[in-house]
Amino acid sequence: MGGRFLRERRRDPYYRAAQQQGLRSRAAFKLAYLDRRFRLFRPGGRVLDLGAAPGGWSIVTSQAVGARGRVVAVDPRPIDPIPGVEVVRARVGETGLVDRLGPEPYDVVLSDLSPRISGAYATDHARSVDLVTQAWTLARRVLAPGGTFVAKMFDGDMVPSVLETIGRSCDRVRRTKPPASREASSEIYVVASGFHPDRARPPGAPAAVRDFAI
Ligand SMILES: C[S@@+](CC[C@H](N)C(=O)[O-])C[C@H]1O[C@@H](n2cnc3c(N)ncnc32)[C@H](O)[C@@H]1O
Repeated sequence: MGGRFLRERRRDPYYRAAQQQGLRSRAAFKLAYLDRRFRLFRPGGRVLDLGAAPGGWSIVTSQAVGARGRVVAVDPRPIDPIPGVEVVRARVGETGLVDRLGPEPYDVVLSDLSPRISGAYATDHARSVDLVTQAWTLARRVLAPGGTFVAKMFDGDMVPSVLETIGRSCDRVRRTKPPASREASSEIYVVASGFHPDRARPPGAPAAVRDFAI
């Protein structure tokens, strides 16, 4: 990491707050915002956290679902232990992952998957779309009826078709940008709720997509 990056990070109020509160990453504040805004979690809920390292989202989630809930965190990178969180060291898209996630369906599937950033807008957008598509493919197999899918994407021209695909199996699709998301970043967050495992709408008849301003 370059000196400038480290200096900017030390000045970043979200980064500093995350360190002070033991949240491991500033990303934790983005999920806390999404939970406040869209009421993602309930005590006792079951949540799958994809792209979970270093663990900020998993910490926020485990606090929200409590001791009766279940949180499973997936990432190829190591995650230091978090009370109440099961870690699966794996890559989304790899064969056999679904069999390691247990037989019970999940109420919420989160995806904060990030590609390696190239700096080229079109390339990073395409890689991010690929990751969201893989996360959605997995989510469709493990989400409970009525469940919610939350995913980060880098904005770009393929976003509408991804939202349309997801919206065919969900009642509502919303997109937003949490305040903790850097303005310079093209990332957006998609919140799709009311999952229907078997009742996909035909192409061209997706759920209405609503934008949420900050
Ligand atoms: C922005 S970080 C996630 C931060 C995390 N949500 C938090 O709050 O600490 C993105 C993560 O996606 C992971 N990732 C990228 N591709 C992945 C894949 N195919 N399967 C699982 N994780 C992946 C990376 O290893 C990285 O840890």
